[in-house]
Amino acid sequence: MPLAETRLLPASPEGLDEAAAILRAGGLVAFPTETVYGLGGDATNDRAVARIFGAKGRPRFNPLIIHLPDLAAARHWAVFDARAEALAAAFWPGPLTLVLPLREGTGLSPLVSAGHPTVAVRVPAHPLARDLLTRFGGPVAAPSANPSGRVSPTRAAHVIEGLSGRIEAVVDGGPCAVGVESTILSVDPPLLLRPGGVPVEALEAALGHSLATGGSATAPNAPGQLASHYAPVAPVRLNAAYGEAGEVFVGFGPAAPGAVTLSASGDLTEAAANLFHILRAADRLAGQGGRIAFAPVPETGLGRAINDRLRRAAAPRG
Ligand code: TXA
Ligand code: MG
Repeated sequence: MPLAETRLLPASPEGLDEAAAILRAGGLVAFPTETVYGLGGDATNDRAVARIFGAKGRPRFNPLIIHLPDLAAARHWAVFDARAEALAAAFWPGPLTLVLPLREGTGLSPLVSAGHPTVAVRVPAHPLARDLLTRFGGPVAAPSANPSGRVSPTRAAHVIEGLSGRIEAVVDGGPCAVGVESTILSVDPPLLLRPGGVPVEALEAALGHSLATGGSATAPNAPGQLASHYAPVAPVRLNAAYGEAGEVFVGFGPAAPGAVTLSASGDLTEAAANLFHILRAADRLAGQGGRIAFAPVPETGLGRAINDRLRRAAAPRG
């Protein structure tokens, strides 16, 4: 059923109370996190969770991350071993998602874990997200608030662009500070499922060993693991020294300046925060028939998450 209008809610106590009331009624509310805007629904309500898949046009088999206000709340839904406790203590609240054994009999909608015996849990650092989660008082299932396969939203206006008329409301919290999605770690055995806002190097330092990457053998395939994802409309070329005719060139650092740049100074944190906004802007600039070329970005720290998203944006479309 199409909704007449998606409401923009202010980042005030009244706005957050309204957002929590919509969630309690089984509605969908997009809200800011430090990584990207999430498309939230009550994770114990099958109908609300099913509507999340419908609003995104997402294939049913992909499980969702549940968002909680703190570690104590997260323990109610997932089983934390000593390693998971240590990781949560080190990185929460923050852009790390832990894939853990699902606790039985909690009333979590089976759609959330898509039938798998694990659940992905995250305690976001954004104060508005934590405030909303506290007011709501339950787990909020939230994928990124964009149509499936498209560029993730880092502004309320991006959410409206993609999902207007498909969800009840968006809480407007301004731009997201981190700008790429959370790092996803399957905890036992430790396996990196998606590079993201917590650099892999920081996880390896905390674990005391290097991390294997992967997962289709032990974990469900993430949409972030599909070849083409985060795709703008214009074709994307990577590791470009300059823009050819018909290309919008996106620079990085002083060695590869561009009228459009991820970061003029070559700062990876700034580049991550700008990434999805710039993908959208470059897409608009490229226009009909145009293409986008990206300067190389180093494969260290947040550069790993940035390059992962850029490779998927550049992948052949399915
Ligand atoms: O930063 C983020 O993580 C954002 C914000 C809103 O929190 N959320 C986000 O959600 O990126 P989404 O749905 O776009 O990506 C979640 C990823 C998916 O690729 C999904 O397959 C994977 O997490 N995932 C969820 N549950 C899983 C599980 N039990 N095992 C393995 N992967 C899982
Ligand atoms: Mg996504």
